[in-house]
Amino acid sequence: MQMMIKELQDTTEFLQARGFENPEIGIILGTGLGKLIDEIEVISEVSYNHIPGFPTATVEFHRGKLIFGKLDDKKVVVMQGRFHIYEGYSLWDVTFPVRVMKRLGIKKLLISNAAGSLNPKFKKGEIMLIDDHINLQGGSPLAFRGVEQLGTRFTDMSAPYDQQSGRIMQEIAKENGFPLHKGVYVAVVGPQLETRAEYRFLRTIGADAVGMSTVPEVIVANHLKIPIAAVSVLTDEGNPDDLKPVDIQDIIETAGKAEPQMITLFRELIKRIELKPAE
Ligand code: HPA
Repeated sequence: MQMMIKELQDTTEFLQARGFENPEIGIILGTGLGKLIDEIEVISEVSYNHIPGFPTATVEFHRGKLIFGKLDDKKVVVMQGRFHIYEGYSLWDVTFPVRVMKRLGIKKLLISNAAGSLNPKFKKGEIMLIDDHINLQGGSPLAFRGVEQLGTRFTDMSAPYDQQSGRIMQEIAKENGFPLHKGVYVAVVGPQLETRAEYRFLRTIGADAVGMSTVPEVIVANHLKIPIAAVSVLTDEGNPDDLKPVDIQDIIETAGKAEPQMITLFRELIKRIELKPAE
């Protein structure tokens, strides 16, 4: 445990020495939101594979980097690319950056991802605000010896997503004339997509969208008492009665088409949120 704490501290100090000073908001950019980076006045950036303690970058991730800068006068730390369980990382690895961002000082965490729609009313290309989740990844990022030294073990999950940020995002969507659904995100391990029987099952248990990320980070953010706002771009429709073979290119293209709306949501939210001092 002491080693884990030291690792977190070393990584935090490394980043502080590179100018990551007092970020107020943390942002994890998933598929379909990369262009938000262009709007940031960058102060410092470091590739993941140059950050001590960060999970060893896979080939796929050689482009991942952590960016510190200003967006509409708020100081932000942005993860361009995230770590997934399906790449072979542990739940500790996947959530390590959230613990570091907390130590750097963030008071809010914004998350985006790409997900498959399960709700027949939620169409491909539309956006869903995550209101609640189901963890089907078969593990918890809090299940390790000594967790209580980093926060309470039996973390409350009765309201895992920040209601105020959700309301603000709904206002933003309304003002800008695009639909913003609200629903339940279920996290699976992946990387394979779902079978028809799995899509049917996931609908039955009350999920509106399915993806392979986000939930571990949200659990850890709750552990650390960081309020979270999370949105999914719905890149395909998991209709068990008419399932087409998955086309990853199409998924990426769809995410790209929703990108301007995602950027509007995040930029405006950042402008409008009021930050309370961290606990
Ligand atoms: N299932 C799981 N993850 C996904 C999907 C899906 O249909 N679409 C995008 N990410």
